[in-house]
Amino acid sequence: MINRIETSWTKEQVQDLIKREKLAYQKIDLPYGLSTGGKDRSATSAAVFADEVKGKSVLDVGCFLGYFCHEAVRRGASRVVGIDVDENRLRQAGLVADCLGMDIEFRLLDIEQDKLTEQFDVTLMLNVLHHFRNPITVIDKVIAHTRERIILEVASPSSARPGKLLKSMGASWWARRRLDRLPLIVVGRDWAVNRGNEQKYFFTPSALTHLLMEQRGSFSRLELKTSGFKKRYIGVAWKRHVGYLLIIGGTTSSGKSTLISRLKQGKLPEVAEAIDMDARDNWIYTDAVRIRNIETENIQKAVYHYDLLRTFKSDTYTYSREQGIDVLDCADKRSAVTIWCDPDVMCQRQQTKLRKGMRHWRERRVKDVLALYKDGRQLAQQYRKWIAYCRQKHVQLFFVDCTDEPRLLTESEWDKKVKSLERA
Ligand SMILES: C[S@@+](CC[C@H](N)C(=O)[O-])C[C@H]1O[C@@H](n2cnc3c(N)ncnc32)[C@H](O)[C@@H]1O
Repeated sequence: MINRIETSWTKEQVQDLIKREKLAYQKIDLPYGLSTGGKDRSATSAAVFADEVKGKSVLDVGCFLGYFCHEAVRRGASRVVGIDVDENRLRQAGLVADCLGMDIEFRLLDIEQDKLTEQFDVTLMLNVLHHFRNPITVIDKVIAHTRERIILEVASPSSARPGKLLKSMGASWWARRRLDRLPLIVVGRDWAVNRGNEQKYFFTPSALTHLLMEQRGSFSRLELKTSGFKKRYIGVAWKRHVGYLLIIGGTTSSGKSTLISRLKQGKLPEVAEAIDMDARDNWIYTDAVRIRNIETENIQKAVYHYDLLRTFKSDTYTYSREQGIDVLDCADKRSAVTIWCDPDVMCQRQQTKLRKGMRHWRERRVKDVLALYKDGRQLAQQYRKWIAYCRQKHVQLFFVDCTDEPRLLTESEWDKKVKSLERA
């Protein structure tokens, strides 16, 4: 990327560094035309930095000697932090950065055990996923601490070591090649016993796609590319960013769509003013399903139709485990309008649905919801869980009664209504 390297080191010092430290794995160009040992990673670097990092903060998880940190600095990143669990590698990374005259912060940190204390625009996780005991927990930690994108270089089941394992278990070459198309995670054996190395989990590209794009709602898109390094692949996951997320939340048949459509038409000025929704602005109207089709990372203002019963009789149970509401974490400003509707009215609407006829599984769901509406205590509990979750996520709360003509409720009016359910 650059031809001349400005350094305060003499040629002899650089030669001594190479000889003394036996630097390898990542080939790093040093001053005076010298370099460390290791593999040329320029192809990975070109793929990793295909999109700009200029002016952005970059975290490199498992940075080793810091090659990708240097590449980020050269591309104008405003702040670069490399973390690694290996103290000696970090010491070497510090020496190399000093030799290159680069300002990089290297931190001894175990991403599995230790806390990340700040957010970064871009996070790199290159060739580290297969070393973790709990890769999925690390992915979630990194999602929470990344603003814009996460870039992974991943060992798939068809890469060298798991490939050998599968071969030894009788999987043919053809079967091994086809594996990558399936959403599989291959679990490695205890290589540490025999090979002095440990590699644990190998994700196919399809498994990574399901994990990031199906099971989580934080990303707008995932780009997959080949890396040219040890048959691995690169995934660039772009996080969504919403300026103002306005959730219109209510239980099934409480009147969410009607409320949204009236707000859209500017027919409820009092409610609109309270919730800061000027329908003339450029709003995106979406929900937990349709948002998956929005590939743009930046949404200025979104009205989010949200059924509070997505957690009811589903195996997510709680809002914090519900991917349909992950989008909250991507929003700067968050408000939720929670709808009140008389349970008898909601029951009538559900019964009308039943009379129209539907597939068996839908009918079962409608009957479950009907039973919930007839059990005030359980319904009240559902509302309380939702409000507690909103508070935990710093969501500004509004309440609207949609039983008849929509009207704003104060929080104490709302609370009285929920209490009346508990008493019934
Ligand atoms: C295979 S190397 C990859 C280095 C570099 N990312 C690259 O692609 O060239 C894995 C690195 O991750 C580091 N590492 C492994 N587990 C870690 C953890 N729990 N926290 C931080 N770093 C870790 C290792 O010490 C090692 O430097």
